[in-house]
Amino acid sequence: MREFEVRNAHFDRLFNTPGLMWLGQNTNHFPTHPAVLRAMADCIASEEFHAYAPPAGFEALRRGIVADLGLDAGNASALVTDGAVEALYLACHAFGATGSTFVTTDPGWKWPMHFARAAGATIVEIPIYGPEHDFRLSPARLEAAVDERTRIIYLVDPNNPLGVCYTEAEIRAFTDIARRAGAYFIHDCTYRHFADSHTLAASFYPERTITIYSFSKWLGLAGLRVGALVASPEIIERLAAAPPNNLGSNVLSQRAAMAGLAVKDEWMPEINRRQRRNQAAIHAAAATVPGLAIPVYPSQANFLVVECIDAGITPEALCEAYRASGIMIRQGTYHTPAFGHRFVKVSTTVPEGWADAFCAQLPQMVERARAITEPGPLF
Ligand SMILES: Cc1ncc(COP(=O)(O)O)c(C=O)c1O
Repeated sequence: MREFEVRNAHFDRLFNTPGLMWLGQNTNHFPTHPAVLRAMADCIASEEFHAYAPPAGFEALRRGIVADLGLDAGNASALVTDGAVEALYLACHAFGATGSTFVTTDPGWKWPMHFARAAGATIVEIPIYGPEHDFRLSPARLEAAVDERTRIIYLVDPNNPLGVCYTEAEIRAFTDIARRAGAYFIHDCTYRHFADSHTLAASFYPERTITIYSFSKWLGLAGLRVGALVASPEIIERLAAAPPNNLGSNVLSQRAAMAGLAVKDEWMPEINRRQRRNQAAIHAAAATVPGLAIPVYPSQANFLVVECIDAGITPEALCEAYRASGIMIRQGTYHTPAFGHRFVKVSTTVPEGWADAFCAQLPQMVERARAITEPGPLF
């Protein structure tokens, strides 16, 4: 079978596994806020979904996203997309020209690299994994990687998978570098709502920053596919001219997103309290198993990197051991061929019982992984 078919069948199998504990995709599995459920039920009952939504999204949702970011509505405009990934696809194809470079970190999120490469750009990855880099990008190393060919700087912040989040001084320095090069700064803020504090690049470089926004993680709407990009009205005008989906995003999803924004102040503190509690439980469990380590703690996102290389097991074997026990975690190679053999990633926006099941089984799973020499293909 071709690789794509194997990959699709893999995710189909996972989705259709009853009771699977999803600790691998940073999705949010806490029960949905009743107001969000009600908005969706009303949408279905009224059958309003027979009509297309407005091409850039409902005006109220567009305003709500810009307001949630705290950006100036006169200077920033939102384009609602089918998840953050469509926003990234659009921006990478629009600006990743042949002969240009696309500069990002390793590790980071891999799909935008595929998009920019398909558009003709050359990918430049700056390694940030390791204590020698403090697991983060420094302005000096970004400066060294950027030149006049650079059209896009792509920063995942908080970083997936590391969970580091950049300071205001760092963001200022990064945007100064982008401005000097005339590059677009794609600031992927998919995980910003989990950070103790977060600085938007758009505050310092509004003219060429594209802020990527997702409802998949903080609100838990991954399967509903709704997100956005936020940029200057000029950039939105250009991107809205030929988007992949000019018939408007899913009406049901947008209703859920709007209801979520309305209850966000009540919803997020509790979500964050619970996911940080899960982080603490996993941190404590890993400390009891020789060879395991958590290099970034607490994570500013809803997941933790758990290093397993010094335990003498592969990430794939550990994932396979857990999968057989009904728990999905993610192997590091999903994020980075260079460093992926060192770690697994474990998501924390899950019911406490799931995190505790992961923790309770950790010693025995590490032992079981030692015997797994040929795990099946993982993606
Ligand atoms: C950094 C990053 N950006 C974007 C996405 C995709 O988000 P969405 O579900 O909104 O398309 C993900 C999903 O894991 C991600 O990790």
